[in-house]
Amino acid sequence: MERVGVGVIGCGIGKWHVEGYRGEPRADIVAIAGLDTPRCNEVAAEANVPNVYEDYHQLLSRPDIAAVSVAVPNFLHVPIGLDAIAAGKHVLMEKPLARNEAEAETLVNAAENAGLILGMAFNRRARSDMQVLKAFIDEGGLGHIYHAKAFWRRRAGIPGMGTWFTSKEQAGGGPLIDLGVHVLDMVLWAMDEPDIVAVSGATYSEIGPKGVGNWSGNGFMPSDAYGFEVEDLAVGMLRTSSGATIFVEASWAAHTSDTDEFGIYLLGDKGGAELHVRDYASADTLRLFTTINGVPVDSTPRLPSKPQGAGHREIIGTFIDSIIGGTPMVPSGRDGLRRTRLIDAIYRSSEERRELILEPSTVTVAG
Ligand SMILES: NC(=O)c1ccc[n+]([C@@H]2O[C@H](COP(=O)([O-])OP(=O)(O)OC[C@H]3O[C@@H](n4cnc5c(N)ncnc54)[C@H](O)[C@@H]3O)[C@@H](O)[C@H]2O)c1
Repeated sequence: MERVGVGVIGCGIGKWHVEGYRGEPRADIVAIAGLDTPRCNEVAAEANVPNVYEDYHQLLSRPDIAAVSVAVPNFLHVPIGLDAIAAGKHVLMEKPLARNEAEAETLVNAAENAGLILGMAFNRRARSDMQVLKAFIDEGGLGHIYHAKAFWRRRAGIPGMGTWFTSKEQAGGGPLIDLGVHVLDMVLWAMDEPDIVAVSGATYSEIGPKGVGNWSGNGFMPSDAYGFEVEDLAVGMLRTSSGATIFVEASWAAHTSDTDEFGIYLLGDKGGAELHVRDYASADTLRLFTTINGVPVDSTPRLPSKPQGAGHREIIGTFIDSIIGGTPMVPSGRDGLRRTRLIDAIYRSSEERRELILEPSTVTVAG
């Protein structure tokens, strides 16, 4: 069996990449890198990873590593991704691909020019409810989808006030780029990558700047380096070329009954679906709505159970398939670029307080 030597850069969510590679019989985890040496040592010890580096360049210089996962703060995705590509490594990038469309494009182009794989860790699409829903849609179960909602709402879930997460420069944005990108990925994948032609958005920053709404007990290291420079709520409406619409809503903090809820709702002419995950539940999260002999029928699929942390493991399986077998990497860097472009457009529409018309590769202002 052909094997792939891999490295993981970043030891926060990077731990789930390590777990994913550990469960992949065709991968050998050669090294991890990160600035927080004690946490990286812990992750390495748990998974028997033989090498830990503070400087990721040392990891990239190893000839026995063919592929890397990049799981570092958003502002480092592109520089570290480019370094990895320059070192000839395939890259699995954490979400979001980049802070904005321009830097995302640089990375996608670099990977394509080098003939290397750039994949995206959009792990939520690997959930079993999402897989069941996608198969139902692909069989025509919903018919023509004409409206959808994608949401991730938290009551008090700002991930680390004062850390890189709340720095505009370092994160690129707030809940839209952090959480919204996951549900945007889910809804666009569900709808088979519709062509988005117009975007309208608005963002608010009403709670974070008051110093409340922090996600307590999250283990992030707060610092005084940054204030709260991003939005705590973002909303958007996307129009597709076929006339379908998609609402997007993402909050880190809001006065609502939700604790931590995400999902997608879809309306089709033959059926509808509500995938709604409350507090990371793994069961009872999907409802399908159809009509049989004129009678409305609501059904609740029994979902195949998956181990905790599921998502990264499946994406990593596809990444390794792609490296060894040459099969297309899905989700790809281009998928990441399309989501980044839409997020950019929502932020820009919010700033300009008007709808933007999108062209194939650029965002231009309507009228
Ligand atoms: N897919 C998901 O479900 C999911 C969940 C959480 C975070 N994320 C994404 O993962 C990325 C990391 O988030 P996190 O929560 O792990 O953040 P974190 O702050 O907990 O960890 C960041 C890691 O990057 C390392 N790092 C920072 N600068 C570095 C450098 N110059 N060289 C090498 N390593 C460096 C740190 O040492 C640390 O190990 C972000 O892009 C975030 O959006 C994805």
